[in-house]
Amino acid sequence: MSHRPFIVGNWKMNGLRSQLAEARAINRGAARHIGVRVAIAPPFTLIAAMAEDANAIAVGGQDCHMAQSGAFTGDVSAAMLKDVGATFVIVGHSERRALHCESDAIVKAKADAALAAGLDVIVCVGETEVQRDAGQAEAVVCAQLDASLPTEAGMAGHLTVAYEPVWAIGTGRVASPADVATMHAAIRARLDVHFADEGKQIRILYGGSVNAGNAVELLAVDEVGGALVGGASLTAESFLAIVAAAGPQDD
Ligand code: PGA
Repeated sequence: MSHRPFIVGNWKMNGLRSQLAEARAINRGAARHIGVRVAIAPPFTLIAAMAEDANAIAVGGQDCHMAQSGAFTGDVSAAMLKDVGATFVIVGHSERRALHCESDAIVKAKADAALAAGLDVIVCVGETEVQRDAGQAEAVVCAQLDASLPTEAGMAGHLTVAYEPVWAIGTGRVASPADVATMHAAIRARLDVHFADEGKQIRILYGGSVNAGNAVELLAVDEVGGALVGGASLTAESFLAIVAAAGPQDD
């Protein structure tokens, strides 16, 4: 498997066309770090324009519908994302799971639809604070993996898993390197069960309050193959500092 770290920015519901300049700056910066794979998932409205400008970063969606088309007002399909230049999609983010009541089965159906449409997929998992305090973090995350990962053979090369403890997202509270190491080892063990050797290609990202100050330490943890970054991905300055933490600049 490639050890090129994968740094993904999740812009969530942030970004007007005026912010495309930030994306262009991120693209220019990423071009100087060819040892790091860089991607941004902007809101749907910016995907086409951002993809048109991008040559050093991948552009993707933050969600997609499980159907290819049809009477689903307000939804966007994986085929539509691909059509406007997206190459990947995030599914199962905890904000989708909690605020849009997305079950593991829904997340899996979306992941399957995205793979069928030719997109790469980032499947998010993570426990709540209550679940962690109850000692259930690993069990919860493993159950999410079991029920939301796509299972079609031959697709592991298109999959990434993002471990994002819900209590660390947007809170400034970061999981300790020891907790991240334990969870990523547990996730790797589940991937081995599901995908055997093929699963070794699957990177496991950490997400939750990643910033330039903590990125070096988190990215050094065993089995951390990159980061999924929310707030700190919104400006070129803060996001490129994380990219720089992931790999040296080329001369
Ligand atoms: P955060 O968000 O970096 O703002 O905590 C991460 C995410 O939700 O993907």
